[in-house]
Amino acid sequence: MARRLSRNGNGNGDGNGHRPSVPEKLAEVGEKMRGSQAWASIFRPGSIFRKGYTDSPRNRSYVIMNSLIYHLHPVKVKRHAVKVSYTLCLGGLSFFLFLILTVTGIFLMFFYRPTEVQAWADISTLETSVTFGLLVRNMHRWGAHLMVITVFLHMARVFYHGAYKPPREFNWVIGVILLTLTLLLSFTGYLLPWDQLALWAVTVGTNMIGYTPVFGAQVRFVLLGGVEISTQTLLRWYVLHVLLFPFVIVIFMAIHFWRVRKDGGISGPL
Ligand code: HEM
Repeated sequence: MARRLSRNGNGNGDGNGHRPSVPEKLAEVGEKMRGSQAWASIFRPGSIFRKGYTDSPRNRSYVIMNSLIYHLHPVKVKRHAVKVSYTLCLGGLSFFLFLILTVTGIFLMFFYRPTEVQAWADISTLETSVTFGLLVRNMHRWGAHLMVITVFLHMARVFYHGAYKPPREFNWVIGVILLTLTLLLSFTGYLLPWDQLALWAVTVGTNMIGYTPVFGAQVRFVLLGGVEISTQTLLRWYVLHVLLFPFVIVIFMAIHFWRVRKDGGISGPL
């Protein structure tokens, strides 16, 4: 019977009579892949996935500096800055809640249409007939309440530590803009269920805006899309809620985080 012979001619794998097992063959293919140019183009020098990685201090630094996620962290941090009891992670929690709100908000957008006729009906369908609809809606609502609370507490923490003083005064201003945007996101989302609670809260809110000196009536007109609450108001607040305010807040958050790093990291005892 014809039989394929290996390099030593006896058909048993290597010269010592060892036929490579499947895991050994896979390891060999893996090694070849790790040595290829395509692999090297994806994983930057110092990556643990690169061929020939050794556990040296230089490679350890590279792992942090060249990673998409880790490079966001500073190379050095002050000891007190990583103590949870210093920041209470309130800024981080605010950002985490924002991420939850973005994910749950995208889910809600699949089932919600911003018109007078459909808005409340869609919310009610979401609660009764959509799988996990009630859970996700409540996550979005509770997340929004919690974010207002954590942002406020974060601001109080920053004030208590005097972190608004130079060189961080500009970041305090950015923070005030973030607080305003958080409240605006909360307020615009409030109208969307189009129930009695939302309707009257927005009536009171826009009436108050109307009393602002000089341009109050004009701002009220723009926000309502007319002289009274209608489907136009719903559409305007919907676009502000799902598009404009999230877009603007992401930009200001990026500036905020960047300034925390550039202003010398988290404040603290000199
Ligand atoms: C969407 C809202 C906000 C987010 C996601 C956010 C996020 C953060 C994060 C992650 C930090 C780093 C450390 C920490 O957790 O404290 C930080 C620091 C800081 N934040 Fe905020 N922040 C927000 C709102 C505010 C507000 C409302 C203010 C003040 C009006 C503010 C002022 C500051 C200042 C001055 C620092 C530097 C603190 C220090 O060095 O001790 N931030 N922020």
